[in-house]
This record gives sequence, structure tokens and C-alpha cells, in this order.
Amino acid sequence: MSTHIKSTYTEKLGIQKCKEIAKTDMSRIYEAKDLTIGTEVILKEMTKKGLQRNQEIEREIELMKRAYFDSNKHIVRLLDVSEDEKKAYLILKYYKNGDLEKYLETHQLTEQQALLVFSKICIGYNWFIENKVIHRDLKPLKILMDGDEPVICDLGSSRKLEGELELALTNKLFTVSYMAPEQLSPTKRSQDKNYDRTVDIWALDVILYELIHHKHPFKADSAIKMQASIVESEPSYPSCSKETADLLSRLLKKNPEARIPCELLEQDCS
Ligand SMILES: Nc1ncnc2c1ncn2[C@@H]1O[C@H](COP(=O)(O)OP(=O)(O)O)[C@@H](O)[C@H]1O
Ligand SMILES: [Mg+2]
Repeated sequence: MSTHIKSTYTEKLGIQKCKEIAKTDMSRIYEAKDLTIGTEVILKEMTKKGLQRNQEIEREIELMKRAYFDSNKHIVRLLDVSEDEKKAYLILKYYKNGDLEKYLETHQLTEQQALLVFSKICIGYNWFIENKVIHRDLKPLKILMDGDEPVICDLGSSRKLEGELELALTNKLFTVSYMAPEQLSPTKRSQDKNYDRTVDIWALDVILYELIHHKHPFKADSAIKMQASIVESEPSYPSCSKETADLLSRLLKKNPEARIPCELLEQDCS
């Protein structure tokens, strides 16, 4: 790699920044080179700003370390971590195939392949269940592809199950398309109650629908219409077997209590 971006701090760590590949409100993601072993890695640089943001960064680092020790191969792999006063630096394994959204643009999966990919996402998600953590921002952009193997990334929005009360709609982090009816409904169930595991399960169910049907289950051309569609309309299941249509209809239940519990997801898809 000939080009590189100057950064005295990361170079002291032995990491040479090469190219910025993503920029979010929270961080900058660089393709980089680990100079000691000569491999390509990802550098996720997160700017510290205020107490709340710093706590979020600490939580993300703590969860990444825990996932590292548990070595679940369907969760993004932390290689190293470092901090100075202004920033935190996560060195991650580089998943060169990009995210699931991009992958689905070039791969039309059969129903069997879709169920297989989904069961592997569930293996990754089991780590969250075991650790009593909710991800809260599951969507195809947060699933990276290691060849054909899905890997859940970005533990930065995660909360412990008994986490602090937060209103989903006031947080621009979240993509409406993957939000659950209980987060969006006018009765605002989520204002009275911490929204919990059921919202992750809903997002996973939307992802399974997309893997199988190659489109989103709810149609809308604006965020407001998408919100209404999720709360009010029932998806159709035009292009799958009866068993899978039955499974999907038990998954995409508006009432979170009627939705299939996550423990059963993986076994129902295998
Ligand atoms: N390890 C990685 N390998 C490849 N691409 C990555 C990796 N980590 C992040 N990315 C890319 O960067 C984007 C943003 O990363 P993410 O961790 O979600 O940032 P943020 O926490 O700021 O939202 C991801 O959607 C993905 O496209
Ligand atoms: Mg994040």
C-alpha cells in the first residue's frame, strides 16, 4: 500500500492509516495496516466528547473485549485497543466483503442459503443473549460479511438488559425501517417501559424477511409512512415455502409478547 494518512499517535501503535472507508456521527473507520505483522486491519477512531459519549465508548470497548475472550466468530473481532485524552482507537479484523446490504446487492440467496446465513447471525446474536445485552441497532449495515459468513458489528449502541430508559424515536442513531412496532406505535409503550430484547428480535426478523424475499417487508417512500406501515400493515410472503411463510408470520408479530422468543429462532431456522 503506497498511500497513507499521517497520524503520529496511531503510528506509535504500529498502525498506518491508509484510507477512510466510512464516517459516522460517532466515528471514522479507516482501512489500515498493522506494521508489525504487515496485515490489513480496520481502525475505528472514536472521538471523546462529554461524559455520556465517553461512557458509551467505554461500554463499547468493554463489550468488544468480552466478545474477544468469548471468541464468537459471528461477532466483529477486536485485535487491539488504545486510548488517548481525545480519542479511542479500536483495531478490528478487516471484513473486506463489506456489509450485508452490499452483499445482498450481488447475491440472490435461495431460501435454503438465506436460512443458513440467518442461523449464523443467530449464533452471533446468542452471545448477546448469554451476556444479557441488547444490540438495539441491528440492520444489514451492522452485519459484515467474512466471505459468506455473517458477523455482527458495532456494539456501540448496546445496553445491558436492565439499561437506562431511553426513547427510541428521539435518537437519530436508529433507522426507522428496522424499528419494532412497540417503539413506533402511537401508544408509545416504550415510554412506560424499557424496550428490550423484543426490538432486537423484530430487527432480526425483518433481516430474515429481506434475506428470503430480497426486499423489505414494509413498503414506504418516507420515514413517516414507513413508521405507519410497520405499525399497521401486514407483510405478504410471496416467494417462499409454506413452512418459511409460517415462520415469518410468527416472527413479524406486532405484539412483542406474541413474537417467537429468541431462544427458538436459531432452531427454527436450521
Ligand atoms: N471490521 C470492519 N471491517 C469492514 N468494514 C467495517 C468494519 N467495521 C466497520 N466497518 C464499516 O464501517 C461502518 C461503520 O462502522 P460502525 O462500527 O457501525 O460505526 P459507528 O459505531 O460509528 O456507527 C460499517 O457499517 C461498515 O461498513
Ligand atoms: Mg456505533
